[in-house]
Amino acid sequence: MSTVVLVGAQWGDEGKGKITDFLAEKADYVVRYQGGSNAGHTVVVGDHKFQLHLIPSGILYPDKVSVVGNGVALDPMILLQEIDGLRDKGIDVSKLKISSRAHIVMPYHKELDSLQENGSRKIGTTKRGIGPLYADKISRTGFRVIDLLDGDVFPEKLKAIVEEKNRILDKIYGRPAFVFEDLLEQFRYYAERLRPMVADTSLLINQAIDEGKKVLFEGAQGTLLDIDHGTYPYVTSSHPVSGGACVGAGVGPTKINRVIGVVKAYTTRVGEGPFPTELFDDIGELIRERGDEYGTTTGRPRRCGWLDAVILRYAARINGLTDMAITKLDVLDGMEKIKICVAYKYRGQTLSEFPESLEVLQECEPIYIELKGWQQDIAGIRRFEDLPFAAQEYVNKMVELSGVNHSLLAVGPGRAQTMVTRDVFAPL
Ligand code: GDP
Ligand code: IMO
Ligand code: MG
Repeated sequence: MSTVVLVGAQWGDEGKGKITDFLAEKADYVVRYQGGSNAGHTVVVGDHKFQLHLIPSGILYPDKVSVVGNGVALDPMILLQEIDGLRDKGIDVSKLKISSRAHIVMPYHKELDSLQENGSRKIGTTKRGIGPLYADKISRTGFRVIDLLDGDVFPEKLKAIVEEKNRILDKIYGRPAFVFEDLLEQFRYYAERLRPMVADTSLLINQAIDEGKKVLFEGAQGTLLDIDHGTYPYVTSSHPVSGGACVGAGVGPTKINRVIGVVKAYTTRVGEGPFPTELFDDIGELIRERGDEYGTTTGRPRRCGWLDAVILRYAARINGLTDMAITKLDVLDGMEKIKICVAYKYRGQTLSEFPESLEVLQECEPIYIELKGWQQDIAGIRRFEDLPFAAQEYVNKMVELSGVNHSLLAVGPGRAQTMVTRDVFAPL
């Protein structure tokens, strides 16, 4: 079995898109299993930069099957824009499959997301309707792709739900109503464009696994944005962790071979919420500029800080990581000293486990170790042994502190700027 789940080990934007694209060359299927257009996954090929929100990052290889799984919050407008944009650039999207069970983001989800953000409950969301969509899914008032395709069921259900949403929008927020007929027309158009791509994708993926095909599950967001395991309520509304791949793609846990955590060599976060190693000084600014740390989806500057090994150990446990893909090591070039947080200090106590309470986390002070930096440009290096000794030491320390071996090391956004240290599709 060659199935690999790839997850973000921190707060998202670890470089999942780049690593997925790199591994996709050897995969047969690439599957998104959660999140929606809140994700922004960057793939750089030569002079071209692709920013993918809903389509898996394997799409640039014409022979791979790309799957949008049932756990994804599917915004048809954004998906179709993305498809058209890729086609315009000459990318073959004919092998894209969409789960009939994926839930559909409606315009009122986006409106409600924005209104909630502008009110008293600010999370710093991407305003892509993610929270309201998953809330409706759990409340059993959502629309699945299969419902959208049913010409009889859809209008009836839509009418009732739009009436309810309009009452909320009017009574709570004083906002104008959505017009049922307009929505119906818009979504009928989406239904016809999506129809040829719709499939029972769980069936498809399981058949592929049984045939010995290589399947790569591409997580969005990151472990600390998980609704259960993240820094609640400053999280997204889905399960980016590896277990989410089973639910969000319809495969059993016994079908998962390996779990790769994508780890940025430092830490970033977008939106609100605690971040113990955040830097507010020149070094934080330097990392932001050198790492080009600005949101792919919203353009917001990302908050930057040192690597946090408490988080790494936590991510290793929650996801059952078997491998690490370390990215953006090159961004640390030229630093005299590099710090890694190894534990937290909380009211005189030393905490080595990631705390459950947000109030505790907010008060945690990082306990750092200091490593020597390297004064060399490493972007052109292609073998681990050729890295400066201090960079090797830094990576070795990441392995020691997390208890997880590395399989990939990235020293730049390009495809070639990736070192393979272990084959992730091989049996463990
Ligand atoms: P994702 O959401 O996890 O896919 O990550 P994003 O695409 O939002 O952000 C990662 C950014 O870092 C993108 O601009 C990538 O092109 C870039 N990137 C990925 N790996 C590396 C790397 O090793 N070095 C550098 N300098 N940039 C990288
Ligand atoms: P990728 O896949 C980084 C953050 C938002 C906000 C919180 C909730 O590119 O790594 P949401 O819109 O999901 O309700 O926002 O989650 N967030 C991300 N941060 N990378 C992402 O995706 C993110 N997707 C959501 O900034 O703090
Ligand atoms: Mg991103």
